[in-house]
Amino acid sequence: MSTSPELLSHYVDGDWVRGEAAFESLNPSDTRDVVARVPADTGKVMNAAVAAAKAAYAGWAGASPEVRSDVLDRIGTTILARKDELGRLLSREEGKTLAEGIGEVTRAGRIYKFFAGEALRRTGVTVDSTRPGVEAATYREPVGVFGLITPWNFPIAIPAWKSAPALAFGNTVVMKPASLTPALAVALAKIIHESGAPKGVFNLVIGGSAAGDALTGNPDVAGISFTGSQQVGAHVALAAVKRQARLQLEMGGKNPLVVLDDCDLERAVQCALDGAFFATGQRCTASSRLIVTDGIHDKFVAALAARVAALRVGDALAPETQIGPLASQSQMDTTLSYLEIAAKDGGVRRAGGEKLSLDKPGYYVSPALIVDTKPDMRINCEEVFGPVASVVRVRHYDEALEVANAGEFGLSAGIVTTSLKYARHFARNVRAGMVMTNLPTAGVDYHVPFGGTRKSSYGAREQGFAAIEFYTQVKTTYSWA
Ligand code: UN1
Repeated sequence: MSTSPELLSHYVDGDWVRGEAAFESLNPSDTRDVVARVPADTGKVMNAAVAAAKAAYAGWAGASPEVRSDVLDRIGTTILARKDELGRLLSREEGKTLAEGIGEVTRAGRIYKFFAGEALRRTGVTVDSTRPGVEAATYREPVGVFGLITPWNFPIAIPAWKSAPALAFGNTVVMKPASLTPALAVALAKIIHESGAPKGVFNLVIGGSAAGDALTGNPDVAGISFTGSQQVGAHVALAAVKRQARLQLEMGGKNPLVVLDDCDLERAVQCALDGAFFATGQRCTASSRLIVTDGIHDKFVAALAARVAALRVGDALAPETQIGPLASQSQMDTTLSYLEIAAKDGGVRRAGGEKLSLDKPGYYVSPALIVDTKPDMRINCEEVFGPVASVVRVRHYDEALEVANAGEFGLSAGIVTTSLKYARHFARNVRAGMVMTNLPTAGVDYHVPFGGTRKSSYGAREQGFAAIEFYTQVKTTYSWA
């Protein structure tokens, strides 16, 4: 007997606020399975959430850092204790494999643990003034209410890496998770609710663009952190800048992985496979452009094509699955349309790229490797956000670097080489916020800065020891005594 799927609630001022079910969150591995029924606020709940966060701010900002640290530590402990169950829910709703789902939940727990420590490290400096007898000092202070807009592809890790630092440093939060995968954000809200966080400190409102506009346009929201598409990012930026709110945007990537003649071939193939296709390629850090020098090109392509063709695509929860489905019908349609565009532009499909009919209805596409592409083809300029990698053949390292630096993105870039000379030159000269040597472009640590250049990111870096820049403001004091 199947029970009716849970109707998710908003979370405002420590209470669960019910709404009408506006749509259903489906399991992309089997769309007959409804994971949850989902409300969609159009602004009313959002305004109440911002008011609650504003009212809670003074108490939370003024609390001892130890109080905040303890709350965050409890949240992290609970997430880690429940990683298997939450990981399963994540895979069921988003479509990444169970191992990836559990891995992401673990990352979210560790992020909360890390920021439990950071809560105690809101440090400033003292400086000898140029004037005798005067002392100058800086303090880091919280900013106010933060509006956090999170994407569907990391439904708990990104909510964690935005909310944990916001809360650690004394701000309050209103989060709007992606309406495609809200279940994990609601699970996080429940854990925060049980952690002893005072009411109003963390609020969650589910909805589409109307709820988003209500959040970004609210004059009581002091800062906005957004991860998502470039188009929506530009829209969010206008709303924030218009009223001088703090702003941080993380958007797309078209991340190059350069493979040089002197590389360890097995390592190069593994980096490409993992970077391009795991999480079904739905990472803004995915290694979607493989730039390969002449001498190794054919060997690399043959070895990679064989590995790509052997990847097992299937239900995210099945233990043998290596690549889960796309997250939604629209992600699948976009992926298939880019495969057509690539073919029309002259790209040659060496592996995959088929819509698969398995024993259950889901958004399955076999991972695709496209060769013989030119740097200016659309497949090499636009983000697909699916299991598709294209190969560009180049003559030598200098050309590889030039191709890597083309285009409007600059999130992550990788090189596979045994040459220290090229590795170091690449790290210093590629236009990207993160550079990986002999590693895939995707897969990052939580305690170091995350972010890109050019059209990939805007504003201060996220994560790790850099997060304090965005979630605090500096006060400079002078005193004479
Ligand atoms: C990773 O590659 O480990 O939305 C993280 C994204 C990125 C996160 C990538 N903001 O895909």
